[in-house]
Amino acid sequence: MSPFPIRPRTRGDVAGVADLLTATHHSDAYPVILLADMEAWAAASDVVAGWVATDPDDGGRVVGHVLLTDAEPGDAATLQWSEATGRAVDELIAVRRLVVHERAHRTGTGAALLQTAVDAAHALGRRPVLDMADNLAAAGRLYQRAGFERIGAYDLDLTEHLRPGDAGFVDDGVVTHHLHVLTWIGPEPPPAT
Ligand SMILES: CC(C)(COP(=O)(O)OP(=O)(O)OC[C@H]1O[C@@H](n2cnc3c(N)ncnc32)[C@H](O)[C@@H]1OP(=O)(O)O)[C@@H](O)C(=O)NCCC(=O)NCCS
Repeated sequence: MSPFPIRPRTRGDVAGVADLLTATHHSDAYPVILLADMEAWAAASDVVAGWVATDPDDGGRVVGHVLLTDAEPGDAATLQWSEATGRAVDELIAVRRLVVHERAHRTGTGAALLQTAVDAAHALGRRPVLDMADNLAAAGRLYQRAGFERIGAYDLDLTEHLRPGDAGFVDDGVVTHHLHVLTWIGPEPPPAT
């Protein structure tokens, strides 16, 4: 099967992206917890560009998604990306929220979304970077095939986002839920001509 068609995401897509991320939380443990406001998480901040893959046979429903955002100065991943690439924060761009609905898996849609984001990063003269929880094996293979290289890891404390019933939530308020996150750097942009 060929990849689902990809187009730039619009504001009107955010609810569909939130539904997709809710579905992949249940099917693939991404995101690892359901946030109280999934639409806000889907909308994201510091967005430079985003794309959706849609199913024309299902009313244009969103079945895939990826974002490019500015890297956040000073955060753990950004420090590792900067050190590994020798580049300033504004020369990097983060690939985020790459996700494909399970019924669209293994169609090349994930690879096509990632390549769209990498090409757009390169068109801006910026180096794509990303981080991912260490349980996402299929994503790791995809990143490796697209020329990304693992450079480090850090632990993320999700305590403040957890609600009763979430994995790791402890009723007396003492919560220890840490995510092991792997950092990656993507292919260099081609030299400007
Ligand atoms: C990671 C993810 C985006 C991949 O999406 P996808 O659309 O299935 O990706 P692709 O189809 O491009 O590639 C997936 C596999 O299908 C294979 N494939 C691609 N086209 C195929 C086809 N036409 N026929 C058979 N297999 C195919 C690929 O070679 C790849 O194989 P692998 O699992 O052995 O590595 C998806 O699994 C997902 O949403 N996972 C949960 C969210 C996640 O982990 N996101 C990363 C956040 S950091």
